[in-house]
Amino acid sequence: MKKSLITLTVMLAAAALVAVFCGSATAKVTGSCAGCHTMHNSQDGKHMILNPDIDDPKGAYTSLTRGTCVGCHTGDVNVGIDKNIPFVNSASKPSTYLAGGNFYWVAQEGGSAKGHNVKGIPGMTKDAVLTTAPGNPVGNPVGCDTDSCHQTLFEPADSWNLDTGCQGCHLAPKHHATQQADGAPALEANGFFRFLSGHYTLTGDGVEGIEDDDWQFTNSATDHNEYLGKIGTHTGAGGFRGIGGNTMTAYCTGCHGNFHIQRDGSTASANWIRHPSDAVLPDTGEYSVYTSYDPDVPVARPILGTGSSATVEPGTDLVMCLSCHRAHGSPNDDLLRWNYDEMVAGNAGDAADTGCFKCHSEKD
Ligand code: HEC
Ligand code: HEC
Ligand code: HEC
Ligand code: HEC
Ligand code: HEC
Ligand code: HEC
Repeated sequence: MKKSLITLTVMLAAAALVAVFCGSATAKVTGSCAGCHTMHNSQDGKHMILNPDIDDPKGAYTSLTRGTCVGCHTGDVNVGIDKNIPFVNSASKPSTYLAGGNFYWVAQEGGSAKGHNVKGIPGMTKDAVLTTAPGNPVGNPVGCDTDSCHQTLFEPADSWNLDTGCQGCHLAPKHHATQQADGAPALEANGFFRFLSGHYTLTGDGVEGIEDDDWQFTNSATDHNEYLGKIGTHTGAGGFRGIGGNTMTAYCTGCHGNFHIQRDGSTASANWIRHPSDAVLPDTGEYSVYTSYDPDVPVARPILGTGSSATVEPGTDLVMCLSCHRAHGSPNDDLLRWNYDEMVAGNAGDAADTGCFKCHSEKD
């Protein structure tokens, strides 16, 4: 009797969780409050923490959530009964990963070079080699180069009272922001693309983009995120203010600002001295060949349309930071999207038509 009651309780709990995590996959969360929040972290005298392997069962968390960012977003595939919490960290080697990659390689296998070293992930250590964000301009205003997320995402909250870890980048998560219509770009009212904003005023400064509904768990030429790009001035430091526009490149250069100084001079014909980001793919020569979108080598668009487009348009679309990098972690050094060691000029082998060769199609 007792046993079947327990079974029933478990089944009801499972059914409740299904109800909690159903619903649309982008931006605004749906479901009963109790699925994600706990008022006292106690029910029938037991804790309410969703992932006690990571979060302290006796813990109590901001916004009264049933765990931390890392706790909720850890799993082997999208977690939650109907797989509706996007997973960004896995305890064991994931067979696939979402658009941003996975912190598994940084924390469990490859080490610091595989990604961003972020506070709160079990197994993660501080990056021993990179003591600041490479490309972080020395002399950044108000000491941001010496004590902030521009130096490390691994330490506790800095003296500017900004949190680090996940929130060093997702500064102001807005799980309850208004949902954007299917296929339309996520704007400020929607909490920006993947809750990526800057920290000056949190107004106006954030990433706009079209959010794939399963975060690219499945992906193809017709099934992917869309990123905004804006032709750079080719010189000058980065960030939303420096570069202008709500692009992914402006976002990355908020911490890696110097990596946007691109040309040896300010004219559009000066030589490149760093690999350009937010620069248009020429519609001539080797660049003109990349016309069918490959989610492993994304490009940015000067104007976001609706939904994901299967085509790349040389002469219009732009190379950007995420053309070569993932955001969280990857199996490759420098958190690259592909193994740079396989990019061998004149002898590409299996790597032909991948990675660098997508755009530099004559170098394989
Ligand atoms: C109680 C569990 C829970 C906690 C805690 C939590 N999240 Fe989430 N998060 C979710 C769910 C569920 C979704 C998927 C929402 C949807 O359907 O779009 C989500 C989605 C996201 C997304 C993707 C948004 C999008 O546009 O698709 C980001 C980024 C994110 N969370 C970051 C964070 C950060 C940073 C924290 C810590 C401050 C955090 N989450 C804490 C459950 C959680
Ligand atoms: C699928 C998970 C999920 C569900 C369901 C959910 N929340 Fe939340 N909620 C979160 C997360 C994660 C945060 C903290 C991060 C953030 O603010 O984005 C949050 C933050 C909040 C906040 C503080 C921030 C704000 O937007 O005001 C309030 C208040 C809140 N939730 C109330 C509720 C209530 C009331 C319900 C039920 C009607 C509910 N939530 C259902 C995940 C959820
Ligand atoms: C260095 C900045 C940075 C840090 C640190 C970071 N994120 Fe992200 N995150 C991003 C970017 C950029 C994207 C968009 C990736 C894309 O579209 O390719 C993203 C995407 C996401 C998504 C959507 C799924 C996906 O892969 O696109 C979730 C959920 C998320 N992040 C949660 C987290 C959580 C939880 C943490 C902490 C464990 C975290 N992020 C730490 C920058 C960051
Ligand atoms: C909030 C600050 C911040 C933002 C935003 C940020 N980074 Fe970083 N990044 C860092 C810091 C700090 C390090 C050095 C420590 C580490 O590796 O975590 C770093 C390291 C890196 C590395 C070298 C990793 C290694 O260990 O070799 C790459 C590549 C990188 N970032 C790319 C990006 C890209 C691409 C984006 C945009 C999606 C981005 N970063 C956004 C702070 C940031
Ligand atoms: C064309 C591909 C490509 C693009 C675009 C690109 N990177 Fe990189 N990035 C690389 C490669 C390859 C490396 C390895 C080091 C090198 O070759 O300089 C690297 C290394 C890095 C590092 C680590 C440097 C170190 O000292 O360890 C950071 C940080 C970084 N990139 C950030 C960015 C940011 C931010 C952007 C956008 C403004 C960007 N990258 C655009 C390919 C690219
Ligand atoms: C998404 C497309 C794309 C990818 C991927 C890409 N590049 Fe580029 N690359 C460009 C564009 C666009 C330019 C600038 C072309 C111009 O303006 O003439 C460029 C310029 C360059 C230049 C300078 C050329 C010059 O004329 O001075 C080098 C070298 C280079 N890339 C190497 C690489 C390497 C190595 C990789 C792989 C790590 C790579 N690129 C990946 C698009 C790409």
